[in-house]
Amino acid sequence: MRRFVIVGQQAIATAHFSLLDIAGTSGRLDILLRCLRSALLVSHGLRRDTIVYLVLCGGEHAPRVLRADGRHIRFVRPDERQLAILVQKALARTPTDGPPNEFIEVRAGLAVASGGIEAVLADFRADTVASYVLEESARDIREVPLAFDDVVVFVGDHHGFNDAVRARLALEGASPISVGPVSLHADDAITLVCNEMDRRKQAS
Ligand SMILES: C[S@@+](CC[C@H](N)C(=O)[O-])C[C@H]1O[C@@H](n2cnc3c(N)ncnc32)[C@H](O)[C@@H]1O
Repeated sequence: MRRFVIVGQQAIATAHFSLLDIAGTSGRLDILLRCLRSALLVSHGLRRDTIVYLVLCGGEHAPRVLRADGRHIRFVRPDERQLAILVQKALARTPTDGPPNEFIEVRAGLAVASGGIEAVLADFRADTVASYVLEESARDIREVPLAFDDVVVFVGDHHGFNDAVRARLALEGASPISVGPVSLHADDAITLVCNEMDRRKQAS
């Protein structure tokens, strides 16, 4: 499996945001929604080999994590509003005081956990071989022997990563990689990583 973990430093951890102004009322959850689309959706389909984690670190009841599992999820539409509705319903239907780091399934392929990056790490540690963190100043993805399966990629939001998360990922052994010399929107950086992994897989 490929896993993408997007850390939203202010992204709201509850359903209390407006669908009429997602960016302005959700701590920039819109960034994470676009990342979800880039990591999970392809033209007319889903990447069945991909799991996406949105780490929501903003507002009341934070942190919480939403997990979208490409093996099981159905009816995911690519537009931001529909993705926002999907996430809003999932957050509303799961307890804000659930057991820490335990994913509660809302519907097939969609689950929510109370907890932050630790909930994510506990979910897949044993299954993952290679771990990367997307950083603008890191070594170029084309210069590393990039894995394309059993892999996890951590991605920052518009503020990048904070020091605590960066230190935690370093402790986990995540290798910093860059997708080129220009700082991109997080969802575009994910598209480039997916493309690079697709190419390596095809060539293998
Ligand atoms: C808009 S960037 C964050 C910019 C933020 N001002 C900073 O200094 O970290 C959002 C995220 O996308 C990823 N990203 C953007 N451009 C990238 C690049 N050229 N190489 C690697 N990752 C990139 C990183 O994970 C980054 O944290």
